[in-house]
Amino acid sequence: MATYILGIESSCDDTSAAILCDGKILSNVTANQEIHKLYGGVVPEVASRAHQENIVPVVDAAIKKAGIKMEQINAVAVTRGPGLLGSLIVGLSYAKAFALSLDIPLIEVNHMQAHILAHFAEAPYPTFPFICLTVSGGHTQIVLVKDYHDMELLGETLDDAAGEAFDKTGKLLGLDYPAGPLIDKLARTGEAKFDFPEPQVQGLNFSFSGLKTAILYFLQKNLKENPNFIEENKADICASVQDRIVSILLSKLRKASRQTGIKEIAIAGGVSANSGLRNTLQQMGEKEGWNSFITRMEYCTDNAAMIAVAGFHKYLKGEFAEQDITPTARYAVGTK
Ligand code: KG4
Ligand code: ZN
Repeated sequence: MATYILGIESSCDDTSAAILCDGKILSNVTANQEIHKLYGGVVPEVASRAHQENIVPVVDAAIKKAGIKMEQINAVAVTRGPGLLGSLIVGLSYAKAFALSLDIPLIEVNHMQAHILAHFAEAPYPTFPFICLTVSGGHTQIVLVKDYHDMELLGETLDDAAGEAFDKTGKLLGLDYPAGPLIDKLARTGEAKFDFPEPQVQGLNFSFSGLKTAILYFLQKNLKENPNFIEENKADICASVQDRIVSILLSKLRKASRQTGIKEIAIAGGVSANSGLRNTLQQMGEKEGWNSFITRMEYCTDNAAMIAVAGFHKYLKGEFAEQDITPTARYAVGTK
């Protein structure tokens, strides 16, 4: 008999539900919260209220799109953390009630592990062990992935995440939140002619706060000389910033590969949707002899398909959660 898993994701500002059948995605429905554009960033209280409005219609739509009946679902997988507590609690409470009402198991999922396991949403799959660069709005990590839920953190950001570097740069340029996709689009028509410094950070860790300050001073200096500097150079500024963020990320990823001797390389998380990062990874991969893995766009940013995939592999091992589990704002990727 087929196994159907309902996945639910609500850790930040996207409400998402997915149905997985024996490891294959049947539906993946996400409601984005446009309201945060008004504030230039995610407002936690506003996000959790929007999750409350979205959760029922999003789950209904995922079940309908999958063409199954609610009663066919065998287990509910849900994001427990890391994320915004008020947002997590909406998805987790809903998942608990859903599991209880159908008398099926509840499975808790680590959002950072799930971003990586999005690579198992569809073939080709990476083989273990592989290295994954996870780049999102809240995290920048290099992870050694030994098995589905056996992971080791090799390096991470000491301050801002890569996504934040994109979003904060966008704010300075007057772009809407989240600015990552807009910078990506503008960069395609620009030339990386401005040079921003590469931070000197030890080991496999990252730092992006110095870059943010360098961009701020660069803009202030040039705006003094030409008040239209941003408007006249927007695409070139975007291309230059993107180039530097990509080079910071990929030089550490190359270092991790060389140090471990692992050539099975993946990228995950919202920033892995960036076309500059995707293209440069391919080029570097060819030079380094990597087997590179990039997921489809819809599995890069927050989505419930990745939660369902992660949940499925726990389901196979019978790793179920109790009804009294609580959400957790911090949740290390190496947690077993
Ligand atoms: O993984 P994600 O959807 O949510 C978190 O868990 O944080 O990542 C969101 C981040 C935002 O910072 C957004 O600007 C960035 O991913 N992002 C991008 C692109 N698409 C999304 N950054 C650069 N280029 C993109 N195409
Ligand atoms: Zn995420």
